[in-house]
Amino acid sequence: AKPVYILAIETSCDETSVAIVENGKIIRSNVVSSQIETHQRYGGVVPEVASRKHVESITWMLQEAVENAGIQLGDLSAIAVTQGPGLVGALLVGVVAAKALALSLGLPLIGVHHIAGHIYANQLVHELEYPLIALVVSGGHTELVHMEAPGRFRIIGRTRDDAAGEAYDKVARAMGLPYPGGPHVDRLAAAAEHEITMPRAWLEADSYDFSFSGLKSAVLNVVNQSKMRGEALQTAQISKGFQESVIDVLVEKAARAVREYGAKQLLLAGGVAANKGLRGRLAERAEQLGVPLLVPPLSLCTDNAAMIAAAAFLKWDKQEFSQLDLKAEPLLKL
Ligand code: KG4
Ligand code: ZN
Repeated sequence: AKPVYILAIETSCDETSVAIVENGKIIRSNVVSSQIETHQRYGGVVPEVASRKHVESITWMLQEAVENAGIQLGDLSAIAVTQGPGLVGALLVGVVAAKALALSLGLPLIGVHHIAGHIYANQLVHELEYPLIALVVSGGHTELVHMEAPGRFRIIGRTRDDAAGEAYDKVARAMGLPYPGGPHVDRLAAAAEHEITMPRAWLEADSYDFSFSGLKSAVLNVVNQSKMRGEALQTAQISKGFQESVIDVLVEKAARAVREYGAKQLLLAGGVAANKGLRGRLAERAEQLGVPLLVPPLSLCTDNAAMIAAAAFLKWDKQEFSQLDLKAEPLLKL
């Protein structure tokens, strides 16, 4: 049979990415252009700047993705795009580009949920088995998702305030570390000999929800007190205390969900999946539970279009296409 080539576009936040994936599995190209350096001087993503950067990059990136894949535009089967959630101006650039391509090439258009993409990044390197539990942790998301079958997502827990990655970035910023702070806090925590103990937000006994704002305030208190006393900031010990609190809660709730739903696999996805401490502890816990922990390679954990193509392939299979009036949805539901 003729291979299915899906070209996917991801522009939901500060990464522009275009990928071509064959049969939902083989990455023919996955071009990612990060805007991190641009946003670094502001200490976070500036939405208006992000949209502008996407506009500047999208055309040459489309060209490069097609060239790298070694195929012709005529070989493509469908055009996929992240429809939401994300920054509306950023999403719009991808959505408009995808519609233009679909219309001019006469191809079906497939709108994809960003979180479905993060989860299906695992499908590019593993075989998924259902039911499964996915922990999606990124700069914009902290969600526990129960999947009974392919494409059937049910969010059983979510953050009530900051996303895990967002908490990392804010805590890092308070300690004077560069944006994005996650990797710095991770590195400092790993090197620390002892920790400054921080609170854990377990919430109600049966809840799978998360909350990181109390933890964030606790860190800010320590930072401010140390500044007031004119002491040197114990960045490593604070990082370790913060990280241990985040990991304890994420691992415990994910493990409880695996048991309650009889999951056959535990998936980790999103930018915070790059965290070495989290990967290690989750792997240990999964082993105790007797279920495999699936984590994509780092390059597929952070935002990229290959994961969007992987999620789109599922919709392709079911011929679930979008109309050309597809709208960017900043608050799209999974
Ligand atoms: O998935 P992603 O690239 O973008 C979003 O969809 O948000 O995730 C980026 C987030 C940032 O908050 C960054 O600080 C965090 O992932 N991150 C980490 C690590 N590497 C990236 N957080 C903790 N430890 C890390 N090693
Ligand atoms: Zn993401």
